[in-house]
Parts: sequence; C-alpha cells; structure tokens
Amino acid sequence: MFNNLPDYVEDPILGLFDAYRADVRTRKANLGIGIYCGEDGRVPVLASVRAARERIDETAPSIYLPTEGLQGYRNAVRELVFGGATADLQDRVVTIQAAGGTGALRVGAEFLASTNASPRVCMPDPTWVNHQAIFQAAGFEVSHCPYRTPKGRFDIDGTLAALNALPAETVVLLHPCCHNPTGIDPSREEWARLLDAMAQRALLPFFDMAYQGFAESLDDDAWAVRECVRREIPCLVASSYSKNFSLYGERVGALSIHAPGLEAAKVLGQLKVVVRRSYSCPPAHGAALVATVLQDAPLHAQWRAELDGMRQRMLGVRASLHALLTRELPDADLSFLLQQRGMFSYSGLSDAQIDQLRSRHGVYVVSSGRVCIAGINASNLAQVCEALVDVMGRAVHAGPAKDAGFNPR
Ligand code: LMR
Repeated sequence: MFNNLPDYVEDPILGLFDAYRADVRTRKANLGIGIYCGEDGRVPVLASVRAARERIDETAPSIYLPTEGLQGYRNAVRELVFGGATADLQDRVVTIQAAGGTGALRVGAEFLASTNASPRVCMPDPTWVNHQAIFQAAGFEVSHCPYRTPKGRFDIDGTLAALNALPAETVVLLHPCCHNPTGIDPSREEWARLLDAMAQRALLPFFDMAYQGFAESLDDDAWAVRECVRREIPCLVASSYSKNFSLYGERVGALSIHAPGLEAAKVLGQLKVVVRRSYSCPPAHGAALVATVLQDAPLHAQWRAELDGMRQRMLGVRASLHALLTRELPDADLSFLLQQRGMFSYSGLSDAQIDQLRSRHGVYVVSSGRVCIAGINASNLAQVCEALVDVMGRAVHAGPAKDAGFNPR
C-alpha cells in the first residue's frame, strides 16, 4: 500500500522559504515568498488589527461559523471589493468567506466545474505558481496566454489574440493589480480592451485579488473588477486579506460571484455544498479581526493609513534599489523597477545568477527570477545591491538571462 507514490516535488515558493529558514547564515535576505516585512525586517502586526484583537472576546466559546462564513465579514469585504454602492448589488453578487485567497480560488473553480461538463481556464504565462494546480485539481483544462513582452511591458496584443481564440465560456484568470510574479499591470485603457474582448466572446473573468491596496489605492486596484460590474459582465473574485491586513496565518479570504440576474440563493447553496465537503466552514478568528476593523470607522481609517504606509515603503524600496543599482550599473536600463507595482519585481536573472545569489550571498529569490521587494529594508539594501551587482558582473558566464530585466540586453 502507498508504494507507488510519485516523489514529492517541492513547491518553488514554499520550498524556498523552508530553505531560507534552514540557512544558518546570519547575513541572509528573504526575497522569495510574498510576505510584506517592515523596515525592521519583521512581519508587521498592524495597530488597527491589534486594537481589533482587544475588542474580540477571546474567552467566548469557539463554535462553528456558518458554512458561508461570518455575515459581518462577508458584507464588509463585499464593500471593499465592489465599492460603496453594494446595496444595489444585493441581487447580483454573492460573497462567501473562504480559507484564504487559495481557498477562494479552489471553491470558485470547483463551483464552476460543477456547472460545466468540460471546464476550461486560460491564465497568464507567467502566473502565480499555484494557479494551474488549483484549477487542474478541480477538473479544468488549462491553457495560457502571453503576459509580458520581451521589453517588459504588458503584452496587450498577445493577450487579445489569445482571448479571441478561446471557446465561449472559458474562464480567464486575471490579476486585477500587482501581477504575481511580474509586477506589471495593464493600464485602464488596456483593461477596457480586455473586457471588451471577454464580453464579446462570452468569456468569464475570474480575478485573483491578493494585493488590493498595494499598487495605487484600494479603489484604483479594484478598478477592473468594478468595471465588470458597471458593464454587467459576470465575473468571480477571489480576494485575500493575508497581505493587506498582514494576517498570513489566519487564512482570511473571500469568494464573490457577480452575475446580473443570478439566483443568489441557489448560487450560495451550491457554494455551501462545495465548502461543506472540503472544510465544512471557514476559520473564525481572522475574519472576526478583519470585520471588526472594517466595520468601525476609526479603525477602518487607521487600517487604510497603515496600508498606505506599506505601499509607500515598497515604492521607497523600489526608488532606493533603482538609485543604488543605477550608480553601480550606469549602462543598465533599470526603469522597470520603478514601473512595476506591488511586492514583486521580475528580474530577468538567469538560473545560474539566482543560484549564485543564494549560495554566495544568502539572497533568496524565486527560481522564476521574481524578487520580493517587500523583503528589502535599509539594513539589507546594500547587501542585496552588492549581491545583484556581483551576479550581474558574472552574467557573461551565467547562461542566458530569462528576459529583459537587470541584465542589460
Ligand atoms: C507568494 O506568491 O509568494 C504568496 O502568495 C505565498 C504563496 O502561497 O505562494
């Protein structure tokens, strides 16, 4: 029994995180997993969340939440995702709490698979390393569309060509902001063209919104989602509060389904069927924290200010990294560092350079070349720059770079 199991293939992000933790060097930098750290190099406990924690009765008995999650949380995140006018959306949107953004993606995928005998999904190449596995496990056939031009811009023409070749009802996985792993987002004009194409071909957008508030603002970052609602295009949204509330371990997420004329009770019922057979009901604590913050005006304002602070810090890191590297490498075009948004920067480093960063310098970067900007601070900035300059100086021996990025072309 259990003799013919395949070998375990380490997840490229989580496996790297384990390797970082096991590294005994004191001079090391974790630029792998997407976790925001402050200037002190630690994962912040937001003051708004701390205040919410004090208001929650930790001595209350721990009972099961409803299968669909905490009502106050569901209302509050629906407003965050869709904007202020959610009362008008009562009969068009169903939101359930989910176990993180990953749980929301999985529940959404299973729900969609239950409504379609041969479900298909198209996702950007590259995308988050787990997307393909989640949809495949739910029974989807997965295809990819190009995302990034060799010059490091969003590939609008390639994406439109791919969308126009998809069969009707194909699900299209999209990142509404802070594309993971590239940090490159479509402009509003490009989003409008994508939505036109998807509406014309009856494709179904499924937004993975893990970084709302990390690119421009909470409202700007949800623009593509809200534009779907304005245009009455059905869509799904998996939203996560791991990053913008710094609550990674609590698994706080939500799945929203928008469709004009949807039969809300039936959709909710089928989502409950999926949740019940997967994990029965979501965890209570993190959702209570998020709901407490969002429903209380002063705490809500405090949280928004803290979120602005995280975003500004990441912009500051980008500017500092750009300035330092440009001084060392005056011929390199590093403007991509300033243009990309969110936690990640796609570096274009080769496999050999990524290995050298880790072995020689203790700097951990995902094998795709994705660098987590949010892991850089004033204390490790010089070390990271030194390491990058060192491996780029060796570029000539390092094999082909993945794409435009740090290595001058
Ligand atoms: C990431 O992309 O690094 C994060 O979303 C963490 C994860 O689960 O992969």
